[in-house]
Amino acid sequence: MSENSFATDIHIGLTAPLKHISSKYFYDDIGSGIFQDIMKMPEYYPTPCEFEILSLQSDQIFNRLGFDKAFSVVEFGAGDGVKTRQLLKKLIENGADFSYVPIDISKKAIDELVENMRTHLPELKIAPKVGNYFSMMEELSGSDTPSLFLFLGGNIGNYEQEQVKGLLSDFRRNMKAGDKLLTGFDLQKNPATIRCAYDDPQGITKAFNINLLHRINRELGGNFNTTQFDFYSHYNPLNGEVRSYLVSLSPQKVFVQETNHTYSFERNELIWTELSKKYKIPEIEQVATENGFTVVEHFLDCKHYFNDSLWTLS
Ligand code: AVI
Repeated sequence: MSENSFATDIHIGLTAPLKHISSKYFYDDIGSGIFQDIMKMPEYYPTPCEFEILSLQSDQIFNRLGFDKAFSVVEFGAGDGVKTRQLLKKLIENGADFSYVPIDISKKAIDELVENMRTHLPELKIAPKVGNYFSMMEELSGSDTPSLFLFLGGNIGNYEQEQVKGLLSDFRRNMKAGDKLLTGFDLQKNPATIRCAYDDPQGITKAFNINLLHRINRELGGNFNTTQFDFYSHYNPLNGEVRSYLVSLSPQKVFVQETNHTYSFERNELIWTELSKKYKIPEIEQVATENGFTVVEHFLDCKHYFNDSLWTLS
C-alpha cells in the first residue's frame, strides 16, 4: 500500500462491508469552493443563523470572555470568515487587544480569507496558518496569551460520538485555565427544514459529494465514472443524525492506480460519506460536562435553529 494516507483511507473505506469515505476529504480546493456555494443556498439555514448570532450577540460574547490582557482568537476550519468577521468587528469596536489566528487545511481558503479580512477589517492583526488543526494547536499552546478558540459552523456535527470525545480532549489538552471555546452546534428542529438543507433541488450538495469521486480520480488515478453514482441523504429526527451517501447506479468496477486495487460495486450499493448531527440543548450540556468543560453561555439565533455555545475548562 502507498505512503499516501488519503489512498490508505480510501482503500480501507472501499473494502469495508459498508463502504465509506470520510467527510474530511470533501475539502480540497474544489470541494471548499462547492461548500462556499452550499453556504449561499437558501435552504442551508446554519450560515444565516450563525451570522445572526455573531452579528447581534458579539458584545455579549465579548463580555463573557473575561480576558484582562491581550488575547488570541484562534479559529479552526476558518472558511471564508464572513461570519467570524462580525465577531472580530465587534471586538475591535470594543477596543479589545487581540490577534486573529485562522487555521485551515486549504491554502486557497486561507489566502481568500486574509484578502477578505484585509479589505473589510484593515486594522485587524492576523496571523494565518495553513495545516492540520491539532499540529497547529500544539504549536500555539506554549504561549501564555489567553485564547478564545472558535470551532464554528456546526463542524462538530460531522464527528461521530467517539471522535467528539477525541476532538474535545485535544482542545482540552491545549487549553489553559481561563481560555474559552466557542463551538457552533446545529440544533434539532422541524425535520423537513433539515432535510431540505442537505438535499437541495439545485444538486449542489450532490456535486459536493460527487467531488469525492473526482478527487480520487484526480489524486489517486481512479477511474470512477461519476455519472454512475447518485446522492442520497437521510435525516433521522429520532437521533438527530443526517447521514449522506453516494449510491452506485449499476454493478461496476473501479480501478485506483495509487492503491493498485479494483473495487466492485453492486447496483444500489452505498458509500457513506457524511454524518451531520443535530443536537438538543441538554445533549450539548452533557457533551460539555462529560468532556471536562463548563458551559458559560449558549448564544442562540432568534429561530433557535443554531447555538454558538461558549465553554471554559471545568
Ligand atoms: C461543514 N459542515 C458543518 C457542513 C454540515 O452542515 O454538516 C458540511 C455540509 N455537508 C452538506 N452540507 C453541508
